[in-house]
Amino acid sequence: MGDARARGLAAVSAAASADELAEVETTLFGRKSVLGQIKQTLGSLDHEHRATVGRALNEAQLALREAHAAAADDLSTAARREQLRSEQLDLTESLAGPGRGHLHLVTQTTERLEDVFVGMGFTVSEGPQAETDWYNFEALNLPAAHPARSMWDTLYLDLGERTELGDGEGGEASNVLLRTHTSPVQIRVMEVQPPPIYTICPGRVFRRDTADASHMPVFHQIEGLVVDRGISFTDLAGTLEEFTSAYFGKAISSRLRPSYFPFTEPSAEFDITCVLCEGSGCQTCGRTGWIELGGCGMVHPNVLSNCGIDFEEWTGFAFGFGIDRLALMRHGIDDLRDMYTNDTRFLAQF
Ligand code: DAH
Repeated sequence: MGDARARGLAAVSAAASADELAEVETTLFGRKSVLGQIKQTLGSLDHEHRATVGRALNEAQLALREAHAAAADDLSTAARREQLRSEQLDLTESLAGPGRGHLHLVTQTTERLEDVFVGMGFTVSEGPQAETDWYNFEALNLPAAHPARSMWDTLYLDLGERTELGDGEGGEASNVLLRTHTSPVQIRVMEVQPPPIYTICPGRVFRRDTADASHMPVFHQIEGLVVDRGISFTDLAGTLEEFTSAYFGKAISSRLRPSYFPFTEPSAEFDITCVLCEGSGCQTCGRTGWIELGGCGMVHPNVLSNCGIDFEEWTGFAFGFGIDRLALMRHGIDDLRDMYTNDTRFLAQF
């Protein structure tokens, strides 16, 4: 019996798979197994023998059952581990390969712009994309009937009566709209922060434009606002020049042309040396050597007083320009729409 038990234990530990173990089980515990046969002979033994053999038989069976159960456990743990190993997804694999993801070109451009301005001592401010008429127009010195509003035609949100922001009565248009520029963030900053203010406000803006190679109804701008004592137009010109060379390199400079914006007085358009031909004249810059980047000017006294800032004590300048077009130029992309169709063959190039 001791022999049968030892051989049985050896067979159990030799089983290398659940299948093999199942076979061992039949040979160990089946009716034709050694122990099974011994069991069948028990009846023919005399009383004293039967008790001894029976006890030894039970012990052997118990030991073998235990060994068998332990082996079954080990095998199933090993099988499970093997299955997990073979099904494991190596998520780090893509990080090493050419399919590695990255930030969208517009986000990259925004982050670079922020870096340059933060390096010049500016903070970064944000405002909501759904604005009220007050922030997008009125506070910026653009009253309801102002003809310049047509430059910033936009989409109004129908909020019904769910909010106090919209008037929502009798089907009238609400005064909540998708902001047409980042200029309303100027107002939001000035309302809560006493001067001196040195901040930039990047973000998404909306216009009622049809998409074409150089327009999108949704695009991005970056606004700059400085309010301090004794700020003059030369500070504006100097800041824009400093920014231009910091961002584009020494070969690129800036110039200002008189213009009109309701929220600045005087106002200017600012151009930079064409980044493609570096000023010698090409198709992109219409052979002028210059590219228009955005608008700027001295913050209008009405805008300062709308925010409770004393314009006798404080003066300021502001500027705003489009981020998407900047990215377009820097990378020689000829159609703005490509930035937003999310074709990974295009996106992967930047
Ligand atoms: N908000 C203007 C636009 O979207 C751009 C602009 C012009 C911003 C002059 C300014 C500014 O801050 O001073 O066309």
